[in-house]
Amino acid sequence: MSKSRVLSGMRPTGRLHLGHLFGALDNWRLLQEAYECFFFVADWHALTTEYAETKGIRENIREMVLDMLATGIDPSKAPLFLQSRLHEHAELYLLLSMITPVPWLERNPTYKEQQQELTTKDLSTYGFLGYPVLMASDILLYKAEYVPVGIDQVPHLELTREIARRFNHLYSEVFVIPEALLTEFPKVPGTDGRKMSKSYGNAVYLTDSSEQVTAKIRPMVTDPARVRRSDPGNPDVCPVFDLHKIFTPKVERDTIIDPGCRTAGIGCLDCKGVLLQHMLPILRPIYDRRQELATRPEIAQEVLEDGYSKAKKVASETLSEVKAAMGM
Ligand code: TRP
Ligand code: SF4
Repeated sequence: MSKSRVLSGMRPTGRLHLGHLFGALDNWRLLQEAYECFFFVADWHALTTEYAETKGIRENIREMVLDMLATGIDPSKAPLFLQSRLHEHAELYLLLSMITPVPWLERNPTYKEQQQELTTKDLSTYGFLGYPVLMASDILLYKAEYVPVGIDQVPHLELTREIARRFNHLYSEVFVIPEALLTEFPKVPGTDGRKMSKSYGNAVYLTDSSEQVTAKIRPMVTDPARVRRSDPGNPDVCPVFDLHKIFTPKVERDTIIDPGCRTAGIGCLDCKGVLLQHMLPILRPIYDRRQELATRPEIAQEVLEDGYSKAKKVASETLSEVKAAMGM
């Protein structure tokens, strides 16, 4: 029996941080062992919000591919390709747009939310409204059964399923109806306690050295009620503790950190020291591989070209089926 197919993509927003690592890439790395995976860089999707500022996009793509390789994404197991290299994505996007009712897109909760949140950008564009149709074409072209995504992407996946069903009903059963693979992501706070994000300036990057990581963790926000060393703290509201949940073994967390914090037995600096003891050895190998990859950045291009050939076979075949089904 052939393996189930998995597909996922990421927008090239620049250097990757711990949010990407624990929110997606660690999961991709495991999936590539058990499934037939396709991973890609969604550069056209980046344009839906960054269309006015495109200068950095090539650089962002290269950095992101090198970061992905450093985390253990293995292109010999899972092709890694660039969306805009395959005109099939654009062509299917056009065809699907013919059968997608505009109210389906306007109803999408992410659409309204993002328009309200990203107020510095004019997101009244046709392309931004059509974001989920492009995403549907990414997924349906590969007949992916599973799509690992974060909870924020679930409405998009629901739309993909509806578009696929509508196509299958109107023409013939070409598309596989994909399912979201919702993995339990740990909460990854940034150094200011908010969600880790490039735009908040609170991120720890995969390209940060041990010294840089240490310099970011030391002044990190803790339980705000713990002002003096003698005040007991509450790990449940402390973002440093959220990082302990990712990096520190449970036994140590439960028997030393948690009670130590609640009784003021340990200070916040000691607590961060313990965190760093666990964090640095996990991040170091990724950093080292990343540094090594930086000496031969052309590898990013090579990987994407190889991924292109493998993706092309599948995508072009599906597109032919689509056109035949539509009588085009
Ligand atoms: N929209 C996704 C995100 O921002 C990226 C993406 C584009 C994607 N196309 C996809 C994810 C197809 C999974 C499948 O995270
Ligand atoms: Fe947070 Fe650790 Fe300080 Fe407790 S001791 S408040 S868990 S940093």
